[in-house]
Amino acid sequence: MTGIETPLTRLLGCTVPVQQAGFGGALNTRLAAAVAQAGGIGMLGGALAGADALGYAIAEVRAGGHGAVGVNFVVPFLDVAEHRAALDVAAAGADLVEFFYAEPDPALVEVVRAGGARVGWQVGSAREARSAAAAGVDVVVLQGIEAGGHVRATAGLLPMLAAVLDAVDVPVIAAGGIATPRAMAAVLAAGAAGVRMGTRFVASLESDFHLDYKAALVAAEAGDTVYTERFAELWPGAPHRVLRSAIAAAEAGTEPIVGSMSAGATRIDVPRFAGFAPVADATGDVAAMALFAGEGVGEIAEVLPAGDIVRLFGERAAVLLGTPRC
Ligand SMILES: Cc1cc2nc3c(=O)[nH]c(=O)nc-3n(C[C@H](O)[C@H](O)[C@H](O)COP(=O)(O)O)c2cc1C
Repeated sequence: MTGIETPLTRLLGCTVPVQQAGFGGALNTRLAAAVAQAGGIGMLGGALAGADALGYAIAEVRAGGHGAVGVNFVVPFLDVAEHRAALDVAAAGADLVEFFYAEPDPALVEVVRAGGARVGWQVGSAREARSAAAAGVDVVVLQGIEAGGHVRATAGLLPMLAAVLDAVDVPVIAAGGIATPRAMAAVLAAGAAGVRMGTRFVASLESDFHLDYKAALVAAEAGDTVYTERFAELWPGAPHRVLRSAIAAAEAGTEPIVGSMSAGATRIDVPRFAGFAPVADATGDVAAMALFAGEGVGEIAEVLPAGDIVRLFGERAAVLLGTPRC
């Protein structure tokens, strides 16, 4: 196994500073376990899960590996009273519990800290990074505007990275448009303690997304993504980055519902321009659903096992950085 030791790997006890993004509340144990088994940080979506299911999933991901297990909560969909049991289970069982899409909140940080896990916050600016550090987080995830999915950032990753590294003294994970070991090596050389990838892991064997979505990512070229607020149904005012083809396909129809898919334990109708990426069992006009993709999508040439992605990125970035194999 090739290791790259950084403040992040030391903090979380993993061997490769690669974090898979937690996806929209989905409890994909298979994906997180594959990432953790390869030494990375396997993430589970916490918001749609019941506390018991989340507890079992954390144990399952932890069972295999050299890596770490984390739980992600998207704050606009987190009702602390309703999800308190899930939060407590995550805080007691995971290595990392992290939050996204809200001003950093010291009270939430305290809930996690009381349970024993490390706390992370994904931010989109140096100002928000300072606010996260002031709220007491252990890890800042800096998302650039290149990112796929919902985008908090308003500027590019590299222009913000130096300012954030200067502003906080906790490990910083870089996110947004990273889809090659070269990009990983670049941000590590600049001082990031790890990388977080979403789009690259959507196009993995174990991700629970629709095969047509994965195929569209593999076929896409650099420049095929758009930063937009078009998929605003169900979550207005939250910009996101999608494949341009998804907007064209959604605009081509008029029916208010484009299809249906599972969301946690229930099956939902998918409104046209809903901000949900199509999961594996989606039916209907999948091409017209929110095909979230980051600017690195043109570098993704094939769907790979998630563990291979972690190993490949760890090994190649180590070589590029001149880190000795261990
Ligand atoms: C399909 C998809 C779903 C996402 N869902 C979440 C989520 O639930 N929580 C979160 O913090 N970030 C989410 N993200 C954003 C990632 O955390 C990360 O910022 C982004 O994927 C990085 O850019 P990249 O896709 O170019 O790697 C999602 C990204 C994608 C592509």
